[in-house]
Amino acid sequence: MLEVRNISKKYKKGPDEFTALDSVSLRIGKGEFAVITGASGSGKSTLLYTVGGLIRPDSGEVLFDGAGIYDQKPEFLNRYRKRDVGFMFQQFHLMPYLTVYENIRLACYEKHQFDRIDQYLDKCSLKGLKRKYPSELSVGEKQRTAFIRAIIADPVLLLADEPTGNLDPENSNILMLMIEEYNRNGGTVLLVSHDPDLAKNAGRSITLQSGKIIDAAALQTEPE
Ligand SMILES: Nc1ncnc2c1ncn2[C@@H]1O[C@H](COP(=O)(O)OP(=O)(O)OP(=O)(O)O)[C@@H](O)[C@H]1O
Ligand SMILES: [Mg+2]
Repeated sequence: MLEVRNISKKYKKGPDEFTALDSVSLRIGKGEFAVITGASGSGKSTLLYTVGGLIRPDSGEVLFDGAGIYDQKPEFLNRYRKRDVGFMFQQFHLMPYLTVYENIRLACYEKHQFDRIDQYLDKCSLKGLKRKYPSELSVGEKQRTAFIRAIIADPVLLLADEPTGNLDPENSNILMLMIEEYNRNGGTVLLVSHDPDLAKNAGRSITLQSGKIIDAAALQTEPE
């Protein structure tokens, strides 16, 4: 379903260059749960952004169902970002001037998606908070809001950047159970985490070091 072929990405600032990704290749099959681990600065977020259609690599390709996402018309990439992918950012990126409900509403584009917002809020213990603004929420509540926003429109691929990084063990557990449920229902998960325990529970873990993948498991899955 997803194939990353030899992508490289350098960040340039004036004369300085920093190689964040160095010839990274991997394959993720439909319904898989893969975790990307690695030290801070190893390129995990950059890889996730690249896969999510948010950062164009300097070279290499990201293929979704066989199509290079950066090689198509702009409408293709817009559709991919809006419909195929759900993204949970390391810093949440909720809109500060919109309520919990309105933040989630932004991700919906079909009637049945709007109609089930309340059901999800209830499931994630956020019902009483739907009219609150992000600044009025705890970190766990913000992350659960970000989770609902990411999956409300039924994306086939959930990209989650350190979703439990700022959570206490209880909130972390709640969120992981919801991500696992999304995966059990057929969703594909690519999750970035520092937590080796979390990587143990995943179907597969991929380790990045200085922008390179250092284990051989990354290419294991055949693309679909
Ligand atoms: N916009 C940018 N401009 C310049 N350098 C950047 C930029 N974004 C990231 N970098 C650098 O690229 C490297 C990889 O960054 P990235 O955010 O992908 O790491 P990470 O593995 O997600 O780290 P963390 O675990 O701390 O979130 C880092 O050394 C970082 O300083
Ligand atoms: Mg990061």
